[in-house]
Amino acid sequence: MADSVLLHFERDAQAAGALAGLLGLPCVMLERHRFPDGEFRLRVPELPAACAVVFATLDDPNEKLVELMILAGCLRELGVGRIVLVAPYLCYMRQDIAFTSGEAVSQRIVGRFLAERFDALITVDPHLHRISSLEQAVPLDDAIALSAAPAIGEFLARERPGALLLGPDGESAAWVSAAAQRAGLQHAVASKVRSGDREVQIVLPEVELAGRQVVLIDDMASTGRTLALAARLVLQAGASRVDAAVTHALFFDDALQVMRDAGVGEIWSSDSIVHPSNRIALAPMLAASLVPVLSRLKSSR
Ligand code: R5P
Repeated sequence: MADSVLLHFERDAQAAGALAGLLGLPCVMLERHRFPDGEFRLRVPELPAACAVVFATLDDPNEKLVELMILAGCLRELGVGRIVLVAPYLCYMRQDIAFTSGEAVSQRIVGRFLAERFDALITVDPHLHRISSLEQAVPLDDAIALSAAPAIGEFLARERPGALLLGPDGESAAWVSAAAQRAGLQHAVASKVRSGDREVQIVLPEVELAGRQVVLIDDMASTGRTLALAARLVLQAGASRVDAAVTHALFFDDALQVMRDAGVGEIWSSDSIVHPSNRIALAPMLAASLVPVLSRLKSSR
């Protein structure tokens, strides 16, 4: 039995292959057949190793969580002792509090679901607004939250030297400031109130925008309404152009069109979710984080 192997579904082949290449791990694509009734059959085509790294980004999460449940169960039955989940996008992290009584705190529930099946988890920019560490949501010793913000900052220093980086809401403050610090650029943060899935109100910070190039930065864009409204306001305040950079390119439904209509020029993202806007590769930071995790897990066998 090989020491470690990286497993992935077909949809993640490119990012998983890049990561396996950097780590020198064999990269094995899982076989998946979807039956007409929606259930699926899953097969690990080669005898797995003592330690398996499962690469699965968790946008469009409901079906993917069932896949992970079946895959983790299958790997345990096949005798895999240690399983690491690399999920560049980690789903269900935004519902982190019961806003009305009886409401499920999905962050904790999904976190426990994963912690019961995997020995370690590595993700990027999870939406941890009201908690300070990923471990509080995913109770594992190795629950590692990396950030793409410095890499986004490096990218922007090349693409938009002199730009002002603007976070559209208080929750983006940490990402914007980390990106700005790495880029050596000025930054500011707006404030936002959300009143519905597609309804937000934003108040810009008191900073001179006339004639400035502005780049909006956020952890994710989902409906695109947050970045679209921020862009409109920034252009109304006299900015010469506005672009946007996000870690997670969810871009649901008409999000890109809404953002373009609002005047957003370039839209860039990390490759945590496969999307034409991907410009920032996460594989190097994921690989650097996986090396010590794998050696800890191997020594704890
Ligand atoms: C929430 O606080 C996040 O950081 C994003 O700002 C939010 O998820 C964006 O959502 P949307 O694109 O639907 O406005």
